[in-house]
Amino acid sequence: MSQVISIHSFRGGTGKSNTTANLAAMLASEGKRVCVIDTDIQSPGIHVLFGLEGENVTSSLNDFLWSGRAIEDVAIDVTPNAVREKSGQIYLVPSSIKPGEISRVMREGYDARQLTQGLKELLTKLKLDYLLIDTHPGLGQETLLSLVISNTVIIVLRPDQQDYEGTGITVRIAQELRVPNILLMVNKSPSSLNPDALAEQVQEAYGCKVIAVLPHSDEMMELASRGLFSLEQPTHPISEKYRAIASQIG
Ligand SMILES: Nc1ncnc2c1ncn2[C@@H]1O[C@H](COP(=O)(O)OP(=O)(O)O)[C@@H](O)[C@H]1O
Ligand SMILES: [Mg+2]
Repeated sequence: MSQVISIHSFRGGTGKSNTTANLAAMLASEGKRVCVIDTDIQSPGIHVLFGLEGENVTSSLNDFLWSGRAIEDVAIDVTPNAVREKSGQIYLVPSSIKPGEISRVMREGYDARQLTQGLKELLTKLKLDYLLIDTHPGLGQETLLSLVISNTVIIVLRPDQQDYEGTGITVRIAQELRVPNILLMVNKSPSSLNPDALAEQVQEAYGCKVIAVLPHSDEMMELASRGLFSLEQPTHPISEKYRAIASQIG
């Protein structure tokens, strides 16, 4: 059975895109077929982590939503060599970074049913084991749609009062939409906090499982989204965490 996993957060900059891309790398390193879709249509970016510059984004979700292209045809094979050697595959459905196309979405919106249908088609057409959805922060239309079709949502939060409040709202909505598996991932935790105590505290506050607490990492900041951290530094504690999350959801 293929799994649909949404990676979400109430606020931006929590680490959703890095988490999504690294989980994709870790799942595919186990020989799985994975597709990442960027539904952050208003502020796309995950293509950068897979080494695609704007001009290499030759097809996008926008082409499916407006130009009638088949969803599987706008997926780009972004499998890194290290993953291909392990018989895994990663596809990416990027979102357009052309200003005209972004403003068109903002102005005209899109057909929600068509997007839902496209997500389902991706599973069968690309014979996926996992579809990972990198969402726009907050609770917009794309988020609600992606939650409805997800088996699992990973809500990423920082240990920050603003994130705490927003996460509570997001958990409630995911529960109302009956997402079967609601997981929390705490990211960018300062070294002064005890990760086990923090995990317990967050788990109790929301009544949801905390799948991992990731420390703030200067090395991650230095990579600055130029690549997949877990492949570049496979023995780093952060990479171990990504690997552990992948094996828990796998
Ligand atoms: N654990 C971490 N430690 C330090 N920096 C991180 C960590 N996780 C993510 N980042 C950095 O935070 C920034 C935002 O990450 P990103 O994945 O783009 O977040 P989002 O998609 O939620 O907006 C990036 O510069 C990224 O390198
Ligand atoms: Mg992002």
